[in-house]
Amino acid sequence: MTDKPKHGLARGLTNYGDADFSLYLRRSFAKSMGYSGEMLARPVIGIADTSSGFNNCHRNVPEQIEAIKRGVLAAGGLPLSFPTVSLGEVFLSPTSMMFRNMMAMDTEEMIRAQPMDAVVLVGGCDKTVPAQLMGAASADVPAIQQIVGPMMPNMFHGERLGACTDCRRFWGLHRAGKVDQAGIDEIEGNLAATAGSCAVMGTASTMASIAEALGMALPGTAAIPAVHADRLRAAEASGRRAVELAKNPIRPSQIITKKSIENAMRVLLAIGGSTNAIVHLTAIAGRVGVKIDLNRLNTLSDTTPVLVDLKPTGQHYMSDLFAAGGLGAVLRELKPLLHLDCMTVTGETMGERLANEPGWVDRSVVRTFDDPYQKEGGLVALFGSLAPNGAILKRSAADPTLFEREGRAVVFTSLDDLAARVDTPDLDIKADDFMVLQNAGPKSGYAMPESGYLPIPQKLARAGLKDMVRISDARMSGTAFGTIVLHVSPEAAIGGPLALVKNGDRIRISVKERRIELLVAEDELARRRAQWKPPVEMPKRGYAKLYMEHVMQAEDGCDFDFLRRA
Ligand code: FES
Repeated sequence: MTDKPKHGLARGLTNYGDADFSLYLRRSFAKSMGYSGEMLARPVIGIADTSSGFNNCHRNVPEQIEAIKRGVLAAGGLPLSFPTVSLGEVFLSPTSMMFRNMMAMDTEEMIRAQPMDAVVLVGGCDKTVPAQLMGAASADVPAIQQIVGPMMPNMFHGERLGACTDCRRFWGLHRAGKVDQAGIDEIEGNLAATAGSCAVMGTASTMASIAEALGMALPGTAAIPAVHADRLRAAEASGRRAVELAKNPIRPSQIITKKSIENAMRVLLAIGGSTNAIVHLTAIAGRVGVKIDLNRLNTLSDTTPVLVDLKPTGQHYMSDLFAAGGLGAVLRELKPLLHLDCMTVTGETMGERLANEPGWVDRSVVRTFDDPYQKEGGLVALFGSLAPNGAILKRSAADPTLFEREGRAVVFTSLDDLAARVDTPDLDIKADDFMVLQNAGPKSGYAMPESGYLPIPQKLARAGLKDMVRISDARMSGTAFGTIVLHVSPEAAIGGPLALVKNGDRIRISVKERRIELLVAEDELARRRAQWKPPVEMPKRGYAKLYMEHVMQAEDGCDFDFLRRA
């Protein structure tokens, strides 16, 4: 009896010291849920359920799970959904980023511990897709990423609004005194009007696109709006395909490879994707033993044009990308640059997929390779004495007139310091100064929140200033825009050069040369270094302790050191 193939419910038996007893007991308890023997003999397809009352973006997950189950049943599998951690971006403190690795561990361990032959991962809100892909890559059970889909933009006073670039635009107008309290209250109810993830090319849409570019999501599914019927058809198809994967396994380790990661980097650059995505992609790559080199990012960025005209880089919304031809339209333009032999979750290579696709494209949304929206890729890495291990600038959403500059540093030593002083009338700051925020990186105690989008000081905003150079070790929402240098590494909280900057220091950035330099003499820096003290105490217990002891820097994807593949 113990020689039966280990699939379905017979996988990974609970250890009672008698395998036959374990299987008998498992089947008996499964039958208590009303399943027939015939059902319990089928391949088991796990479905990672990330619905949560604290995750508005996943409001449609229950409906998608029903559609996935329909597909699994129709293809001869047994669908069993299971809950995992869900990360609703705006409901988590100090930031969802702190819990991405926890969700990845939960996903990995539940895939491995429970008897499933394949798994469908339902995710969408910012950190959920990276967490699921990290977990799936480590568990290495056949997996399909099903995306919740983006929100629809909403018509408001004759204008289309969508979370969350417009959230920031109107908040900026409110801070500048151009939208009053009644106005901002009304806008608040009109920014996020449907189920789904943020409507622009923010982190969620970027990671959805990356999941498809990696080959982990079904072709054409990244951009389908959350409320479109195609989203449910995609869910049904994911369920069907998962059963085929259970019978003829293609594992994440066969799909997520050095080459497919490079394809994903090309797509990230071509869509003007979120800065967060480079951190997440680095973490996913680390799970399969691939190191992303930020110098390689720069090389790819120089040869990958921005093709997609979506906010915050451009003007359209994710639903427009869907209507314009979806990610396939982007991939076809990038075809000469892609590794076409990469395997995908369908069993086809990327090249086979692209050879079979229809060709209609709305060129107002997805430009041709020869007539791009911007000639160079959206992201660029900067290096220099202020960021020896790198920093990231989203040049596609920045002001090019600020790219070659030297400025005076105006330093905020923490997020609390920033909040306390940024709007004070006596703040010594001018439009051509560089705002510097310290101690907002992975080990800062704030867990690298999306606060790199430092608000323009109110007195400058009211005078009409829209952008200035801002530098920090924090992250930035993918929906934000501005000349903002992020992910400075090593971070200030571990004594990186950023910690040594003082008010009045000169800093030089050159996007052309990929440099960011702190123009302070080395002997003065040595004096400051000798006086530096860590800004936070180590947490004494729980997940916060685990996080602080093991989280790595941005160039290592902020993964835990013990979770990377050696
Ligand atoms: Fe969920 Fe933006 S808040 S994707």
